[in-house]
Amino acid sequence: MQRLENPGFGRIFTDHMVTVSWEAGKSWHDASVRERTPFQLDPASAVLHYAQEIFEGMKAYRTEKGGIVLFRPEENARRFRSSAERMAMPVMPEEMFLTAIEELVRIDRDWIPSGEGSLYLRPFMFADEAFLGVRPATRYTFCVIASPVGAYFKGGAKPISVWVSDAYSRAAPGGTGAAKCGGNYAASLIAQAQAAEKGCDQVVFLDAAEHRWVEELGGMNIFFVMEDGTIVTPPLGTILPGITRASLMILARDAGMRVEEKAYSFDQWQDDAARGRLREAFACGTAAVVAPIGNVRHAHGEFSIAGGEVGPVTRKLRETLVGIQKGSQADAHGWLHVIA
Ligand code: PLP
Ligand code: COI
Repeated sequence: MQRLENPGFGRIFTDHMVTVSWEAGKSWHDASVRERTPFQLDPASAVLHYAQEIFEGMKAYRTEKGGIVLFRPEENARRFRSSAERMAMPVMPEEMFLTAIEELVRIDRDWIPSGEGSLYLRPFMFADEAFLGVRPATRYTFCVIASPVGAYFKGGAKPISVWVSDAYSRAAPGGTGAAKCGGNYAASLIAQAQAAEKGCDQVVFLDAAEHRWVEELGGMNIFFVMEDGTIVTPPLGTILPGITRASLMILARDAGMRVEEKAYSFDQWQDDAARGRLREAFACGTAAVVAPIGNVRHAHGEFSIAGGEVGPVTRKLRETLVGIQKGSQADAHGWLHVIA
């Protein structure tokens, strides 16, 4: 398919979707794989008013030998469950979640690009009870759609620029930062738009309480590579527990690097960059894979990292991760889930 040659991110969709309904007293029912069609929603549907919605992001890859694989889909199933718990939504059994993903990948397998692209899978669930009282809804729809994708950023694998937001926070202790709910992204859009105005690819959020500690980007986790080879990443809590983040920590340790999950302040980041103690920084996530950070802008100035180039540690981690996903490197941890 010619459309698959340069798909960009999230603009093209496959022919099918999976839907499963949930209703109080009936649990999950009416699972189907069908033609992709618009939903009919009652104007009073709870999701339209109170944003009871969660989603996941994962990819199906065509390996170099022609097989089709998912990367750690059990982790997406588990995170979907914990997001549902946080948003007072019904929990989908992990096996049902995985079956839904597999069925869609099988029926839309011709849409998986070969080469660098992949098929981005977007499972999501929303409240569709028509009721305006504020309480957890009693009806939900689960759905999976798919989109052939290439690079998330326009510049491909080139270093990205980031804007450190001094005005907005993404999440607070006790809030929904660790859940993958649509509301988190709605709240991040103004900060992301400001980053774009400043000429940057992504926004970096600092913590809500002190506005001091680096948390994550609008749609990615963040890592720092120090001069002694140690890799630092902010701890879990208010950030999204990224599956790429967790995997890269393991791959870095496999390669003999020291990895620390610890609070890292923006002041420290600037100081380490100025004194040459910070060698590299990168963002990571399913959509973005591993994206080197070349330039950092903030309210009082800007600085570059690794001379705006791709550093060796970032390059190596990216190559190892992509190599496993594409089947060209050994899958030592059993992360690939083969679609028969
Ligand atoms: N942080 C945010 C806010 C995200 O949206 C994402 C993307 O899913 C990530 C981190 C990375 O998570 P993962 O590696 O599981 O895709
Ligand atoms: C992902 O990497 O899957 C994301 O969800 C990030 C963004 C596209 C929302």
